Amino acid sequence: MTNKHSTCGFSTRAIHHGYDPKDHHGALVPPIYLSATFAFPTVEYGAACFAGEASGHFYTRISNPTLALLESRMATLENGEAAVAFSSGMGAIAATFWTLLRPGDEVIVSQTLYGCTFALLHHGIGEFGIKVRHVDLTDLAALQAALSPATRMIYCETPANPNLRLIDIAAVARLAHQQPNVTLVVDNTYCTPYLQRPLELGADVVVHSATKYLSGHGDITAGIAVSNQALAQRIRLQGLKDLTGAVMSPQDASLLMRGLKTLALRMDRHCSNAQALAEALQAHPAVESVIYPGLRSFPQYELATRQMKLPGGMIAFELKGGIETGRRFMNALQLFTRAVSLGDAESLAQHPASMTHSTYTPEQLAQHGISEGLVRLSVGLEDVADLLADVHQALAKCGRNTVRQAATAPSAVR
Ligand SMILES: Cc1ncc(COP(=O)(O)O)c(C=O)c1O
Repeated sequence: MTNKHSTCGFSTRAIHHGYDPKDHHGALVPPIYLSATFAFPTVEYGAACFAGEASGHFYTRISNPTLALLESRMATLENGEAAVAFSSGMGAIAATFWTLLRPGDEVIVSQTLYGCTFALLHHGIGEFGIKVRHVDLTDLAALQAALSPATRMIYCETPANPNLRLIDIAAVARLAHQQPNVTLVVDNTYCTPYLQRPLELGADVVVHSATKYLSGHGDITAGIAVSNQALAQRIRLQGLKDLTGAVMSPQDASLLMRGLKTLALRMDRHCSNAQALAEALQAHPAVESVIYPGLRSFPQYELATRQMKLPGGMIAFELKGGIETGRRFMNALQLFTRAVSLGDAESLAQHPASMTHSTYTPEQLAQHGISEGLVRLSVGLEDVADLLADVHQALAKCGRNTVRQAATAPSAVR
């Protein structure tokens, strides 16, 4: 694999890293290797591949040339040594947990997490003898107190889905690494490596839902884990090969590489659109509060500017009148689509408490800082004037007793 672009900038590597058309009949776009299996020239070579003594592709669940190219691009963009591709973000997260944790171990997790990660911890690994401890990771004294000889992993999202709380990755990494055998895993889905690179700040593993900004077009589900060679190899050979089998398809790897080519451009636009919308929401009398890392009112504004290149494309906010007004607002939107997921070209609006975070009980939602009335926006790439107009017309309607579409709308995606 050619690495002649390893010293180039972010976008150049996102477009060119690891590929030279002259090695592929001049094909500008890397070919998709659909083969599930690969021929061995001799029995001895095949045996050496299985023993890990020869490099080479032999079965797509373990490696494939198209996946390998994507993985090398993700590794360089996150500034890690190696990456492993998965069929979904949950595949990457589950494989990382199952590889690195054993019964009797403790995992310290931040308070707010994506709903299915929360479910995996509490209904998955938590039921297999691994102790899950939620700790406010913004409180370093609380983290210090929670660390025990049994702690094997600290896991967080920053910004967290959906309330955008930030974790100071460098500070948490310093505490984590005071103790041997503690791995800091950061879900970098909201930022992508264009906005934030946790490995450079001391994290050991970065996981992604590549379904979101990385692919950017809402047409695949995909996941990535990035780390050093040794950890990535363990995640591949245990978490991917044996424990989850959640392998990404080569077609999806090709679509994901297409998304990466425009990642920087798209993120710039997501961020500038979101900044304008957050400011407009904040100035509106119907709005109770806006959470966006680019606003000076954001409680962790200083950390946001230090840790993230730009504030991201996600906004959370509450309307005066709470959840009922929030429902009316979402049903009145015309350009925003009512849908879960995030990071697509299309702007999306959803209600975390009843949708992406419905795996939490009402008590857990309150305990973990996800308020009932919170509305989450994934700000897309449309013209900002049109997005502002849509939000303003929906805000104008939501205070009044508008026609309730909720009763006739399809049931929420859970
Ligand atoms: C922050 C975060 N992590 C992980 C996931 C899971 O990713 P996937 O849906 O690709 O399995 C999601 C999905 O919404 C997410 O928002």
